[in-house]
Amino acid sequence: MSDFSSNFWSWFIAVVSIISIVGCGVLLWTQTMKRPSKGEQVKLHGNVWDEDLVEFNNPMPGWWMWLFYITIFFSLCYLAFYPGLGDFAGKFGWTSTVQYDEEVKKADAEFGPMFAKYAQVDIPTLAKDATANEIGQRLFLNNCAQCHGSDAGGSKGFPNLRDADWLYGGDPASIETTLTLGRNGVMPPLGDAIGGEAGIKEVMNYVRSLSGLKHDAALAANGKLKFTVCAACHGPEGKGMQALGSPNLTDKIWLYGSSEETISETIRLGRNNKMPAQLERLGEAKVHLLAAYVYGLGGGSSQINSAVSVAPVVPVASAASAVTDVPKP
Ligand code: HEC
Ligand code: HEC
Repeated sequence: MSDFSSNFWSWFIAVVSIISIVGCGVLLWTQTMKRPSKGEQVKLHGNVWDEDLVEFNNPMPGWWMWLFYITIFFSLCYLAFYPGLGDFAGKFGWTSTVQYDEEVKKADAEFGPMFAKYAQVDIPTLAKDATANEIGQRLFLNNCAQCHGSDAGGSKGFPNLRDADWLYGGDPASIETTLTLGRNGVMPPLGDAIGGEAGIKEVMNYVRSLSGLKHDAALAANGKLKFTVCAACHGPEGKGMQALGSPNLTDKIWLYGSSEETISETIRLGRNNKMPAQLERLGEAKVHLLAAYVYGLGGGSSQINSAVSVAPVVPVASAASAVTDVPKP
């Protein structure tokens, strides 16, 4: 109600509500007929339809009338105790915001100590803890699955979190940083820098050659010369750089896809991809549990960060990314 600058609508709503309720009561009262006494002939309504269709003028059943009176009484009580009449807050002063805040406070008090306990445990250990993983999975389904898929397998533009291919690193610290601060992978449009559409075609062929896909060797050779523009971010051999989130172009795992059109589109239009920061939404303790859950999914640390290779390697049949490339014959 506070959205309005004057009280008019508040009063309007209150008055219309009261009039409607009282009106229902009055209507009911005036229509309550005396029941016919035993043996008395029930009168006809007096209306005739379809030439000869007539109707007895019986009173409403008693149980129905009483139910109606009770609902009227209930609605008046409700409006006295709960908000409903314009901006009158109701005797109880209840609001959904206060109730929500109280429930959150209660949940924090109940689960806080448990989260605090897990916050002390390092990620590789936590990743092997069944209860922590169960909580992590539930958090993942609620907060991450809409983008990464309920099995964390990803889809076009959303990385697979179960393979050992990482844009930003699969060691515990990198995963936790990704979740805490979010990530933003940016590749500028580069068509002009490599000589327009002809250049795009050459570099695209070179990129496809890097992972053994079908390509035109002569075009790829020219593309290789122009790849210096790309090497700044993808490295001289196209193996990517985790500091920038630039993907490895030599593995057979694709964020967007390996078709000629898709690679050309990436070069022509660039990409701007965002992983939202989670710290403010979820807090440190939940981010820590989620990082452990993701770490334990089987991808573990990447080959590049092999210093931390304590991840439990769980062979998962469906771990292959939705866009993992299988070279066509
Ligand atoms: C709105 C969609 C969205 C949501 C929600 C989301 N992510 Fe992401 N996430 C992305 C995108 C897009 C990327 C890739 C960013 C890039 O390309 O730079 C990403 C990247 C990541 C990465 C880095 C992967 C790598 O290869 O280095 C991890 C780990 C990750 N997300 C985990 C999570 C977790 C855990 C959650 C839940 C708390 C989550 N994400 C929620 C969209 C999302
Ligand atoms: C400024 C750094 C930068 C430069 C320069 C750059 N890229 Fe990228 N590239 C990226 C980033 C970051 C991504 C990931 C974008 C994302 O997360 O969505 C990317 C993604 C790609 C992809 C998508 C890979 C996949 O798995 O689907 C291709 C293909 C690609 N780049 C090719 C090139 C080529 C070819 C060039 C040179 C013409 C180039 N890039 C230059 C940063 C760069």
